[in-house]
Amino acid sequence: MEYIFILGRNPELSILELKSRLGSFSYRQVGNAILTDVPQLNKGFITKLGGTIAIGEVVNIKKLDTSYIKSNKPRYVIWNFSDNEKFYEEIREELKSRFREEGFKATEKRISDFLKLQSGQEVRNLSSSKLIDEQYFVFNDRFGRIIETCDYEKLEKQDMEKPVRRESLAISPRLAKIMINLSKAEQDETIVDPFCGVGVIAQEALRLEIKVIGIDKDSEAIKGILKNLKWGKFQEKNYQIINTDSITAKIKKSNALVTEPSLGQVLKYAPNKEIASGIIKEYEKLIIKVLNNLKDSVSGRFVFTGPFIQTTSKTGIKRMGCDANKIINSTGLKLVSGFPVAEFRENQVVGREIFVLEH
Ligand SMILES: C[S@@+](CC[C@H](N)C(=O)[O-])C[C@H]1O[C@@H](n2cnc3c(N)ncnc32)[C@H](O)[C@@H]1O
Repeated sequence: MEYIFILGRNPELSILELKSRLGSFSYRQVGNAILTDVPQLNKGFITKLGGTIAIGEVVNIKKLDTSYIKSNKPRYVIWNFSDNEKFYEEIREELKSRFREEGFKATEKRISDFLKLQSGQEVRNLSSSKLIDEQYFVFNDRFGRIIETCDYEKLEKQDMEKPVRRESLAISPRLAKIMINLSKAEQDETIVDPFCGVGVIAQEALRLEIKVIGIDKDSEAIKGILKNLKWGKFQEKNYQIINTDSITAKIKKSNALVTEPSLGQVLKYAPNKEIASGIIKEYEKLIIKVLNNLKDSVSGRFVFTGPFIQTTSKTGIKRMGCDANKIINSTGLKLVSGFPVAEFRENQVVGREIFVLEH
């Protein structure tokens, strides 16, 4: 089946997430959208992903089924991922006359909101999708219909309402989900998060029906994660939370490791190279010790974030991350091809790099 995936602000990472779940595929990319041919997707697939905004199915416009349209005054948009203006205009006209012939009083809405990608490129983004009944797309010479969209509001609400939040230390639920998918852990398998904090990764894993072992040396964080998991009504048999140091912790066999370690102090301004390098060395020491302690208990992938720090220098602002070779050589693990991948916002002093290792 041919699908398009409209991706979030870091398309490179979102594509790697999709490949971890769907297996390798070839694709064509225009901006933040890719067109690919993969086996039929299960309904609700988008809810399992962190980096995809919408999924569309390629259809022949002549065979477009309109029987699912509930309103007789549908408002619709056409996402344009085509540089073939003629084809796009033809599709607009064809859709308009189709609706007219079938007795709909349809209105085409134009997309006026923009999403800034990590690369700096701006792409069109539909933010007020509640006002839109139907979404279509044109991708090069293909036309199709959007079949699933990410419910941002629900995700945000879920995150904002949980009893214990630590904004400056926690990763977003969407990034947590991407990392869990990169680990390839399956339903009923177990992941370990050796720096679990108040449990963003743990909650997302449990929502995906993956079991969790969470470790944190801070007893306040442990109280926080237990409160959050109770609030989330997750079954206690599916998680084990341990208050100890991950450098020496002993755990039962797990399928993957997914974690955001302490990335060093929270910085408001870009430090100089020496300070950044000191933070990174401390981080490397910690992650190497924890990986060496846990590697024999984890059979699959090791997915973790590392600091990616803005530094000031005479030549302007650059970013500095950790030395992947040092981590590999000190642990005997291998780097999965395509990683590390940078994940940051322009104004963020300490951004992240996502590492994926395996035996
Ligand atoms: C960046 S936070 C993790 C945030 C987490 N993703 C969350 O949702 O809250 C890092 C956590 O690692 C814990 N930590 C730091 N060093 C540790 C160690 N050696 N063993 C266990 N936990 C550690 C800290 O107490 C802190 O809660």
